[in-house]
Amino acid sequence: MCGIIGVTQTIDNSTGKIVFDALTRLEYRGYDSVGVAIINPTGELQIEKDKGPILEVGKKLEFEKLKGRTAIGHSRWATHGPPNKINAHPHISQNRRVAVVHNGIIENFLELKKDLISLGYAFKSDTDTEVIPQLIEYYLDQGKSIVEAIRTFTDTIKGTFAIVLVTVDEPEKIYAFRRDNPLVLGIGKNENYCASDIPAFLPYTNQVLILKDNELAILEPKNYKILNLTTGSEIKRTPKTITWTAEAAQKAGYPHFMLKEIHQQPQVLKTQLSTQMEVVEEIADVVLAADKVFSVAAGTAYYASLTLFHTIPSLTKKVVIPVISAEWDTVSSLVDDKSVVFAVSQSGETLDTIKGIKDAKSKGAKIISVVNVIDSSLTRYGDHVLYIHTGPEIGVAATKTYTGLALALWRIAYAVAEKREDIDSTYLSKFDKSLHALPEAIEHVIRKYEVKAKEISKWMTQKQSAFYLGRGVSFATACEGALKMKEIAYVHAEAYPAGESKHGPIALIEKDFPVIFTIPNDKNRKKMMGSVQEMKARGARTIGVIEEGDEEFQGVLDEYFEIPKGFSQFLSSILYQIPQQLLAYYTSTLKGFDPDKPRNLSKSVTVE
Ligand code: F6R
Repeated sequence: MCGIIGVTQTIDNSTGKIVFDALTRLEYRGYDSVGVAIINPTGELQIEKDKGPILEVGKKLEFEKLKGRTAIGHSRWATHGPPNKINAHPHISQNRRVAVVHNGIIENFLELKKDLISLGYAFKSDTDTEVIPQLIEYYLDQGKSIVEAIRTFTDTIKGTFAIVLVTVDEPEKIYAFRRDNPLVLGIGKNENYCASDIPAFLPYTNQVLILKDNELAILEPKNYKILNLTTGSEIKRTPKTITWTAEAAQKAGYPHFMLKEIHQQPQVLKTQLSTQMEVVEEIADVVLAADKVFSVAAGTAYYASLTLFHTIPSLTKKVVIPVISAEWDTVSSLVDDKSVVFAVSQSGETLDTIKGIKDAKSKGAKIISVVNVIDSSLTRYGDHVLYIHTGPEIGVAATKTYTGLALALWRIAYAVAEKREDIDSTYLSKFDKSLHALPEAIEHVIRKYEVKAKEISKWMTQKQSAFYLGRGVSFATACEGALKMKEIAYVHAEAYPAGESKHGPIALIEKDFPVIFTIPNDKNRKKMMGSVQEMKARGARTIGVIEEGDEEFQGVLDEYFEIPKGFSQFLSSILYQIPQQLLAYYTSTLKGFDPDKPRNLSKSVTVE
């Protein structure tokens, strides 16, 4: 999740300082390198950038002393190419006419880069971003205006972007345009701003305009206008006054980071889906060549890792052994040089997981690290590294990193299935369709059920205990649902495989005992009916996450959340989790707790 700032103003001695301050306020989005491009008083583009912490790089390169009226800045969270000075933004065109900063992924950058190289353009970085200034300069050289160049460019590229561009041809203008990645405008008196998020410019102006998809903003110090990128026609929109404090602005108006992160899931999962196809393919080959497959993970990451256990055996007939990191010693002697071991971890720093992985590596196993934090310890042990690209997660309880890790593993399962010649093509196309429909389906579930989740949570605040039941992959979903409820609402929530619950736990059921069921329309659905009836007969209050239109369960459950069709066989561990995240969040906040900072927990567990 890169951070972007752009400013254009009538004076030139404070621009560097404004950009530097704005970048430090975007620090919470995560970064590995940072840079600024300014059109200096002689009308040239000056670029200053490097790898490292924002404060350190900004001081070293004296961002505050940069002179000029128009500047753009960027804090990078690497996707294409390692974090280093060359890959840091801004990127500049061959003849230094155009500079850009970018958040998002240009999916067809390799083709575009090849075409531009054949036209004589030289590239310096490994990034997808560098094609942007080069292609725009190419269009300008062909006589297009800058607006025409941008419109042709957005027609040509595939992928997601928030792009902010400056050109020496028009030194007092900033061009900002987006598709699927955020951009907001800050409107001042003698200065205008654009940024990935409001906190960047909040100390200077509270007049804010949200740029929408497929819109282009043209900023000058005293004017601004917004155009529709497809039609070129002007859009009139008036700024809104923001009354948030800086801290509230970092939460984008949400009361807690956790709720913001729940709502971010559609966007970050969409980003992940457009990255690292080749890494996913390589990993699928490694899995197919392995004798034994293990996964090692803790907590939420362990529940996400169970995706492998529920997909790979049926696709490959290989045994998958999911191991809780702290229990690694139990399986250690089974690992050899024909084994593949998945390290699944959002932080990449969980000590128990690192210990298991070090041991597996010493036995010659191939290591596949699936992580969120770039360059974290587990990436260094990985023969292959798949990033989940969810951006930093500030809420201590994992939400978007759970769905991000699970999605990465579902993607690997899909790639494995695709490589098998004996897999039915209808199965594959349904799987593929579910993957691409997932972000929108999550958005739909949040929109439809946030109020209902809050309602049910009011009742949950009175409860000391709850059961979470599921079968097969839904048992993993139930475990994660119960963990969230324990962690932030301090309810004693226990997950059981639904079939096992009658072997003891059912003794606890009394009138109004909460039981939360995960019931996709999969091969276990029928058996789940038996479990619901067993609990109901003993007075439990039954709450189910079911497939849309499942009338049989609607008639039996006390409360239900309906999940769009098409996800029962694929990705249910992600989509059926969303109402459970909301339930935990609202139970916690209605009890007066801070879900971002649950007691006794920390974001990264670096002790054994
Ligand atoms: C739960 C949670 C923890 C972590 C666990 C592993 O919300 O965040 O259970 O999942 O500590 O952490 P990572 O994924 O960093 O290895």
